[in-house]
Amino acid sequence: MKKKILELLQNCQDFISGQEISEKFGVSRTAVWKAIRQLEAEGYVIEAVRNKGYRLKEEPDLLTEEQLQKYLETDWAGQHLVVFDETDSTNNQAKRLAEEGAEHGLLVLSDCQTSGKGRRGRSWDSKAGEGIFMTLLLKPDIQPGNASMLTLVMALAVRAGIEDVVGIDTQIKWPNDIVCDGKKVCGILTEMSAQIDYINYIVIGVGINVSNEIFPEEVAATATSLYLLTGVRISRAKLAAKIMAEFEKYYALYLKTQDLSGLMNEYNSHLINRGRSVRVLDPRQEYTGVAQGINQSGELLVQTEDGTAHVSSGEVSVRGVYGYV
Ligand code: BTN
Repeated sequence: MKKKILELLQNCQDFISGQEISEKFGVSRTAVWKAIRQLEAEGYVIEAVRNKGYRLKEEPDLLTEEQLQKYLETDWAGQHLVVFDETDSTNNQAKRLAEEGAEHGLLVLSDCQTSGKGRRGRSWDSKAGEGIFMTLLLKPDIQPGNASMLTLVMALAVRAGIEDVVGIDTQIKWPNDIVCDGKKVCGILTEMSAQIDYINYIVIGVGINVSNEIFPEEVAATATSLYLLTGVRISRAKLAAKIMAEFEKYYALYLKTQDLSGLMNEYNSHLINRGRSVRVLDPRQEYTGVAQGINQSGELLVQTEDGTAHVSSGEVSVRGVYGYV
């Protein structure tokens, strides 16, 4: 009954009276009232006005399989879904499931993570209800050397998903941070299990700060959330589903050439590093230069006094974007 009443309220723009609901479903007014109370306890905000009835004002941001299915419009990405209330790390979960034989396209999500991982051994702030923590499992038939480009493919998908669902223009900080107003809103962590010439599986983990209002001290100056940027609360399920649809699109283009020739121009048009002074934190020696954009292999081309450097991995700080001043 609760589910039916919820559907009715969701499809109704205006107030609907308790009498009308009870007649429609053949239940008592008390049963209607009880169902409304239950929905409120689950986080739905329902306006009740004398002589008018009930109207749904706000829905809770639930990250459930049901919600995700509602928005998923993909052929394969996320068609097999596993959703946790809590897990150590969705990347770890996806790897465990891959070892047990999970298929290409499995999407693992969790409301929170107890050991959320960032790049370079850092941790990722993963509190319940605040973010999207998800990992896509891929089993592509490509050379292991081409796998790191998939991180850039996911960055494009996240950027496009945010633009579509949230309506804001974000930039990509090479290789895989999504930034807005100079602060980081999303990070991507790709891990791979491979032999020298064969990929067993790849997991691409995406962490998006959705409704965070405060951040841990270590990242407070450099991180932001979609809520802080817009003042609007969005559905995590809707955004996660849209990113999967975008990923499918970009991934198909990547697979055609197994490099970024078909995506390079779009990536570069959103690249915050482009034309800006960058510091390359090469473990052998740090150096600075002006970033030109990526090439078809996903390397960042940096113009230095000595020529053009091809940066394939490592940290790059952009002047004016968290860190490099
Ligand atoms: C970064 O350092 O920028 C990468 C952060 C990646 C975080 C995501 S959250 C979902 C997935 N599970 C993890 O443990 N990490 C990634």
